[in-house]
This record gives sequence, structure tokens and C-alpha cells, in this order.
Amino acid sequence: MDAGQLHLKTSLLKVDPLAPQPSLIARAARLIKNGEVVAFPTETVYGLGADATNDLAVEKIFEAKGRPSDNPIIVHISSVGELGKVVRNPSPKVVEFVSYYWPGPLTVIFKKSSSISYRVTAGLETVAVRMPAHPVALALISASGRPIAAPSANISGRPSPTSAQHVVEDLDGRIPLVLDGGETHYGVESTVIDISGETPVLLRPGPITTADLSPLLGEFGEPGHVHRERPIAPGMKYVHYAPNAPLTLVLGKPNGIVDKVLDLAKRSGSSESKIGVLCTDETYSRYPPDFVRLSLGSRFAPYEMLRNLYRCLRFFDKAKVSAIYAEGFDEIGINATLMNRLRKAATSVVET
Ligand code: TXA
Ligand code: MG
Repeated sequence: MDAGQLHLKTSLLKVDPLAPQPSLIARAARLIKNGEVVAFPTETVYGLGADATNDLAVEKIFEAKGRPSDNPIIVHISSVGELGKVVRNPSPKVVEFVSYYWPGPLTVIFKKSSSISYRVTAGLETVAVRMPAHPVALALISASGRPIAAPSANISGRPSPTSAQHVVEDLDGRIPLVLDGGETHYGVESTVIDISGETPVLLRPGPITTADLSPLLGEFGEPGHVHRERPIAPGMKYVHYAPNAPLTLVLGKPNGIVDKVLDLAKRSGSSESKIGVLCTDETYSRYPPDFVRLSLGSRFAPYEMLRNLYRCLRFFDKAKVSAIYAEGFDEIGINATLMNRLRKAATSVVET
């Protein structure tokens, strides 16, 4: 039986994102303490949270999302002081390091403490932890009085939700409550790193880049090369962020990309209104107006492009396009994160 379908109605509760009302937070915290799941905003994407110390509650996350049971979940805390409860003997050096980035979009892998069950970590001895930089998330964790396990609040395989409406699109009737704190700031999931070995390893690129981290951590090693015995972020092996229509990622210089997309679209035989193009402000006007054209923003505003990505991917589903062509970018700095998500959404990659 799918326990996620026992909730006939999902409540959407608007909450002030900067100064969340204590009575609304208390209502959500009560659900968490009672072993229920609650969707809430973070500065990256919306999370689907449950008491990380309660196996039955964590199980409801897997059920509601249809998440493969071997994919571990990030544990969220509301202060660096809480780290000692969820991880085993964090070194003073690592505590100093995370204090520098938290609250923020950085997830770090630690050895788990006994309070965190193998259900959360999918059988691993390690646990992924982060302290989010969103007032609603922090207030909810703190009012619940326990660490909150939370993956992104989407049906597994769908783009992560960057608004409460996206959560409702995916999980209506499967969860009791969504705290609506408006659109999220970064629009993609946190950076995940493992700093337990000699060389730091990037498990998932995110808003904080390796260039941001290297002054403190040194050069990053390749996952799998450096410590081959360690699993890389297990979630990265699944298809992710995928819209319904096949997405072709086109690489090259902007002018060449536009010509290639026009050529591919023509040869596809689809009518223009069924062609989706994920482009940029600089190239938008070069595509026919009958295409479903969505601009991520300016090529010179990479964080803005990142913030818009998942909303655009979801929009293509609503527009029922039959093919999507996405412009590619040089994988430098924060654009490496954008390209990571585009590659995961893509069914094919072509070069001009
Ligand atoms: O920004 C975020 O990180 C959002 C918000 C809600 O905090 N959460 C999120 O969770 O993106 P999720 O479950 O969608 O992605 C978590 C990733 C997965 O790729 C998972 O495999 C990896 O982190 N992960 C979790 N625990 C791990 C562990 N112990 N070792 C390696 N990877 C782990
Ligand atoms: Mg996810």
C-alpha cells in the first residue's frame, strides 16, 4: 500500500520567508514531531522533511517521492552546535571549516552517529549534513527539536521544486503540508563534498564551486580516482531533472548553436509549436516566435540562469512540446553546475 496516498488533502500554508510566523512554524513542527512529512523552502530548492531519528517518518519520504531505497538523504540541522548529535567525533578543523560556509548551500559527508539510522543513510556508515540558509527551514528544524532528513520535494526523477506550486504539482494528496515561502534563491541543489580523505572530493556540483572552496581545502580530486572504495553520491547514478520530452543539449559557440538548433528542429519534422528551445537573452530573438522559447536569462548572469533552470524544464512539460533543444555553456566556474544539471536532463548531446 502507498501510505503517501492516505492524505486526501495537502494544505498549502503561506509563510513569511524572511520572518516566518511562529504559529505557522509550530503547526509544521508538530507534524514533524508526530512522525509526519512536511515540505518546506530552503535557499536551494524545496525539501521534503521528516524527523531524521524516526525510521517510520523517514520511510514516508521514500514512499511519497517514489525514491529508490538505496539513495541516502541529507540531514539538516539549524546550528553548527547540533553537528555533534548527528555525526561521530567531528574534528575541530572540520567544524571550523563548516562554520565558515554554514548556513549555506554546502553539504558535507561525515561518519554518522548512532542517532542517525541506516534508513536515512541507505545503509552507509556516512551521513550527509547541511545547515540551510533559509529562515523558514532554520525555524522549522529548531522548533521541531530534531534533525530533519530532507531530499528535494519532487517525485523522483522530476526536476527539483523551486516553488511551493512545483511541490503541489508533484506531491498533492501524498503529503499533509507544504510551507509556501515563495521562490527559492539558488534554484539548484546544494554542493555535496566529501572531505574525509586526503583530497577533498566533489560529489555533486552546486551553488558553491570548487574554486570557491579550494582556498580553504586545496585542490579537489576526481571522485572514484582518489578513494575508489568510497561510494560517490549514490543519487547521481539515477536519471535526474528530466522533463518529459527528449532534450538535446547543443554545445559550441552561441552562433553555431543557434544554427544547429534551427537545423535539428527542421529535420525533426515536428511542427514549430511543438519545439521547445532553452536559450538565453542573447539568442532568444534568433528562434522562430512559434517555437516554445524559454530564456534562462543573460549568458552574463550565470546565477540567474541557474535559478530559472528547473522552472523552465517544468514549463516545457506543461507546454507539451515533443522535443527540447538546450544551448550549452563552457563548463567554467558556476556554469559547470548549470552544465551538470543540463547533462543529466539531456537524452543526447551534440557538438556544432
Ligand atoms: O539543496 C539540497 O541539497 C536539497 C535541499 C532540500 O537541502 N536536498 C537535496 O537532496 O537535493 P537530494 O536527496 O535530492 O540529494 C541528496 C544527494 C543525493 O545525490 C544523495 O545520493 C547524496 O546527496 N547523499 C546523501 N547522503 C550521502 C552519503 N552519505 N554519501 C554520499 N552521498 C550522499
Ligand atoms: Mg533530489
